[in-house]
Amino acid sequence: MPVPPSQYISNVWKEGIFDGRVVFVTGGAGTICSAQTRALVHLGANACIIGRNQQKTEAVANDIATARKGAKVIGIGGCDVRNPENLVKAAERCVKELGAIDFVIAGAAGNFVSPISGLSSNGFKTVMDIDVLGTYNTVKATIPYLIESAARNKSNENGLTGGRIIYVSATFHYTGMPMQAHVMAAKASVDSIMASVALEYGPYGVTSNVVAPGGIEGTEGLARLAGKGAEGKNTASGIPLGRWGTVKEIADATVYLFSDAGNYVNGEVLVVDGGDWRNGGMG
Ligand code: HXC
Repeated sequence: MPVPPSQYISNVWKEGIFDGRVVFVTGGAGTICSAQTRALVHLGANACIIGRNQQKTEAVANDIATARKGAKVIGIGGCDVRNPENLVKAAERCVKELGAIDFVIAGAAGNFVSPISGLSSNGFKTVMDIDVLGTYNTVKATIPYLIESAARNKSNENGLTGGRIIYVSATFHYTGMPMQAHVMAAKASVDSIMASVALEYGPYGVTSNVVAPGGIEGTEGLARLAGKGAEGKNTASGIPLGRWGTVKEIADATVYLFSDAGNYVNGEVLVVDGGDWRNGGMG
């Protein structure tokens, strides 16, 4: 049974706004990134999702393909974003099989809850490598295709867009979060890469923006952080909107930034957290 669209996208968007677009997604088998991808596919895109686990990545790709009749979704498993060659090969395969890379979602991330006293230098490095080096490797492997896409779509004919990157980041580094020094350092770096890319490749028509989710229900991140209690809290009572977010709300932000409506947004962080970080973060 296909996942009903009401679970991953609002009904304010027009079908077909991403017709013929191709999105390349790292961490694409994860809860948030698969919802982002499903929304784009529902609205007309084809997709290539990248993950470490072969079986899971291929299964999620097949499942996402049910979002639209005729959709093409490739799952490339066994691909670790820490390995630049893996990404170069994945990007080449995406272009060979789907014809282009118009959008990139850099979503692969690692996270565990640990005080600095329990964190080895290799533990710190592992998260930095997945998030920061992985983001850099993703940009490096895909930027030539994004530049081509931006040039092809410069006329913005029929409102079709191309040449856009979104990084899935976080908000904790704005204020600090115990047990998350490694992740905070990594996500601050991801935001910095986003800003550099915005300045460096904006002149080519490529846009680069962060989507920063708060606690999103049903995700491994929330289970690890709120469930086990990075801050000892496990309710959403401190969030100004009084609830955790949904994957649909992250997908909607993604659709906005990739769509014709997001044409002039570059170098920005779009926080989607119900106002949580301003109140200390994580509910
Ligand atoms: C302390 C830990 C640890 C823990 C692992 N390590 N877990 N240290 N506490 N709970 C240490 C290990 O001991 C080891 O150091 C080092 O990290 C590498 O561990 P490996 O298991 O070899 O790494 P690897 O197989 O590459 O796995 C990476 C991982 C894992 C990050 C540790 O959790 C993973 O694969 N995560 C991907 C999925 C994930 O995290 N999803 C959640 C994303 S949510 P030593 O010294 O022993 O060698 C998210 C939201 C963040 O990112 C935003 C909210 C703030």
